[in-house]
Amino acid sequence: MQICQQDQYIKYRREGFAAIVCILLLTAATYNLHTYLSQRSLLNITYQIIPMLTQSSVPPTAYLPHSEVAPAHDHTLLQGKPAESFDEMPIVDVKTFLERLPGWELECEKVAFCLHNYGILIFRDPRANEQENEEYIDLMEKYFKNASDKYYAGERLSEAKPEYHFQVGVTPEKIERARNHYEKVKHLPEEDKPSSPFPPTVDMKWRYMWKIGERPAGADDDFPQVLPEGFPDWEEKMNSWGQKLLQAGTTAAQMAALGMGLDEHAFTKRMEGGAHLLAPTGSDLVRNEVGATLAGFHYDIAFLTIHGKSRYPGLQIWLRNWKKLAVKIPKGCLLMQAGSSFEHITGGYVLSGYHEVMYNEDTKRALENVKEQMALSGKERILWRVSSTLFSHFRGEVDISPMRELAHLMDPVQAGTYKRMTAFEKLMEELRATSMTADTKKE
Ligand SMILES: [Fe+2]
Repeated sequence: MQICQQDQYIKYRREGFAAIVCILLLTAATYNLHTYLSQRSLLNITYQIIPMLTQSSVPPTAYLPHSEVAPAHDHTLLQGKPAESFDEMPIVDVKTFLERLPGWELECEKVAFCLHNYGILIFRDPRANEQENEEYIDLMEKYFKNASDKYYAGERLSEAKPEYHFQVGVTPEKIERARNHYEKVKHLPEEDKPSSPFPPTVDMKWRYMWKIGERPAGADDDFPQVLPEGFPDWEEKMNSWGQKLLQAGTTAAQMAALGMGLDEHAFTKRMEGGAHLLAPTGSDLVRNEVGATLAGFHYDIAFLTIHGKSRYPGLQIWLRNWKKLAVKIPKGCLLMQAGSSFEHITGGYVLSGYHEVMYNEDTKRALENVKEQMALSGKERILWRVSSTLFSHFRGEVDISPMRELAHLMDPVQAGTYKRMTAFEKLMEELRATSMTADTKKE
């Protein structure tokens, strides 16, 4: 009987010991799995997908535990509270990435994070010289003033090419008209509603399209370059600034790919030979007045749109959570915004950023300042709002269907709404929808 009790006791001890070992092993395995997932940023991704799956309007940041988002870094924005003004937006430190300084991987994560949540990047690229942006804006102010004087005097502008869907040369005012996105914005609170009217009116902005980089022989989107008369340094200045912006866009694409867990060249290899366009816009601040729609509420067709700093405010953007923000680009930075090709290829993980450009009270105040400076210095200035813009594109034949390699970031239901198409088909679809093709009706 005693032996029997001893056996029972030994059995209980063995079982108890085995249970403790199991618990210890299970704890260690859970810890290792957690560490592994954290290292792979998969936890972040899981948390980011939750709101997409539930179709919640709460920004994904609200779901992110602080420790999982921005370990010991200066991404104060990534601490759970969504940005409510431009001052709260993180700035991408491109030098850290280019020189692979400590923290470069976090800069790539920052790029992916900002593109997903905000659709934009504030990009401090040391290669994009501010002085060059200023000289380029001077050139464009002169061009737009000169071309519009001729246009209003009834002269035909030989550099306007509707037969090439305005994808090279000048697009005068009142040609482009945004798609009607009223259904998407009608429920927004007043402060987040677009200021531009619905149904959209024609844009009051002008634009010039100048091809940057080489296209593959016979590419569908390779229209002949158009050079305006009377600007001897045009080609050199346009190419120089255009290459700087494209270089910045290419770096952003590399950082985005790395930040999303892809090969560094996943996007850039698709951009080689793309129909990149330096596409500055110009709006006459004397002929127009407060309330004028310089560019109606829209998104861009491009993969990434890259902007230098403008001399006048007026650009407003919408974040993923539909919050409207007035753009203020910090000195020495570029602004990038995702276009529809980026949205398509990421199956909606990155959304194309809605934006509009209005002649508003801030624009007017900046204009009054410039007029005061003119009066003080006695120097005439051209009073046009120029936006130094470059559209970076995928090569025309690239399939922009949602990439399988990005499946871990996508909501499969949402991703399924993006049909199979090439970058060129996307371009033509959007141009037709915005009155830019020769066969669409103009006002
Ligand atoms: Fe745009």
